[in-house]
Amino acid sequence: MIRPARRAPVRRPVPGSLSALLSRRRVLGLGAGLAVAGLGAGALIRRGAGAQTPVEGLPLVEPAVRASRDGLLETSLTARESRIALAGRTVSSMVYEGSFPGPTLRVRPGDTLKLRLSNQLSAPTNLHTHGLHVSPSGNSDNVLLHIHPGQTFDFQFDIPQNHAAGFNWYHPHLHGEVTEQVFGGMAGALIVEGDLDALPGIAGLRERVLVLQATQHDREGDTVPPSASRAQSQFGRLVNGQLRPLIDIRPGETQRWRFLNASPNVFFRLHLDGHVLHEIGTDGNTLAEPRARDEILLSPGERSEVLVRSDGAGRFALRSLDFDGGFSVQPEVVLATMVSDGAPVAPRPLPETLLPFFDLRALPVDQKRLITFQVLPLNRFAPVIPMATFMVDNKLFDMDRVDQVMRLGSTEEWTVRNGSNNWHPFHIHINDFQVTRINGEPVEARGLKDTVAIPPFGEMTMRTRFLDFTGKFVFHCHILQHEDGGMMQVVEVR
Ligand code: C2O
Ligand code: CU
Ligand code: CU
Repeated sequence: MIRPARRAPVRRPVPGSLSALLSRRRVLGLGAGLAVAGLGAGALIRRGAGAQTPVEGLPLVEPAVRASRDGLLETSLTARESRIALAGRTVSSMVYEGSFPGPTLRVRPGDTLKLRLSNQLSAPTNLHTHGLHVSPSGNSDNVLLHIHPGQTFDFQFDIPQNHAAGFNWYHPHLHGEVTEQVFGGMAGALIVEGDLDALPGIAGLRERVLVLQATQHDREGDTVPPSASRAQSQFGRLVNGQLRPLIDIRPGETQRWRFLNASPNVFFRLHLDGHVLHEIGTDGNTLAEPRARDEILLSPGERSEVLVRSDGAGRFALRSLDFDGGFSVQPEVVLATMVSDGAPVAPRPLPETLLPFFDLRALPVDQKRLITFQVLPLNRFAPVIPMATFMVDNKLFDMDRVDQVMRLGSTEEWTVRNGSNNWHPFHIHINDFQVTRINGEPVEARGLKDTVAIPPFGEMTMRTRFLDFTGKFVFHCHILQHEDGGMMQVVEVR
């Protein structure tokens, strides 16, 4: 369900603020937006963000890192509508820790993550650790929780000793509120360190966390939900909250880039001019061997880790190529520019193999299921209720109903059908899966996934095992308007 953006407490216009800004800009030149933002919290600018010129092409900045020590990461996240500097403009947005995106959390297998969530929003929220294999119950990855405005909640995530190393993320998951909160910027990287990081050809590489988002604002600089039409400023696509940042690399150097699509609804078709992306991990899981890719489609929620080797000096655009979403086409955009410059370094060999992959097709299947994602056309004679249009197996989401019951330790094969003319990224919590067929065609096993895009009127078949944890969790479409609109089910492992 899309609601109008909740406004921050009414801000009185500051007389003359726009002209004050304009005169500042005249004095400071192009860097004015940044300089003003640097003074903190937009104290100087209360209104008129739509008139500010966005700043682009600055060196890439990565979110602040909070890493575990001696088996524990104890931290807190405050969710609040905040004045933040975004691509040189001051805007108002729902974010964690006043930061778009939120801080990067780094943990290791066997660690405990203690996270205090403080809800300073005017709406309820909760928190999901997308990609973690942890308990879905109690104060762990329990997305059926409601944390009300003003409330504080203590999560504890016990990360298993054998947890895969890779790139995951956290975001709110309260049904009906997710689109608006994630669109506002409430999302952050959650990295599990481990065996992958120590492999020859990977150990010691410079890493980049690249959180891909998209946002828009009204004249006052308030975030406007994706469906609303009153947007005055559209940033298009942002990388770590920046517009077309510069990613520096030395000629000959290999870097490890971690991509996260944290947008509720935008697909990114990643392509780096003149370079191959050597994919080493997907959705927090390591591939059996690197896969050389010219482009990588990342639907909302998906992650990809790649090695990028610069062969010579130059500037190379990192693009999102045009994408046909079924009912609308997303145009090509430049996301960032890789600048290869400086003293060359001796190229290091890329890894040839990574970590062993266990093919789930070797296991007997205990249970098969067929699931269908549906979009019902809007009825133009009835009041338009977007909630009523996104379904799974003819049902809207109901958090009090359990739609699928699985047995702990079992292996299942699910076929998920897309009964509509647009893409739906299927995502399930807690246990990852192996895609075995897309539209009936066998898919070569490479690694596990937790989110995969199902083409219009297509289908995807996967194998999965429900290991280690009983309890209730969900699967859903990761286009968050669809999820908020009802395209989600509760499952329970017993
Ligand atoms: Cu990233 Cu259930 O979601
Ligand atoms: Cu998830
Ligand atoms: Cu969908």
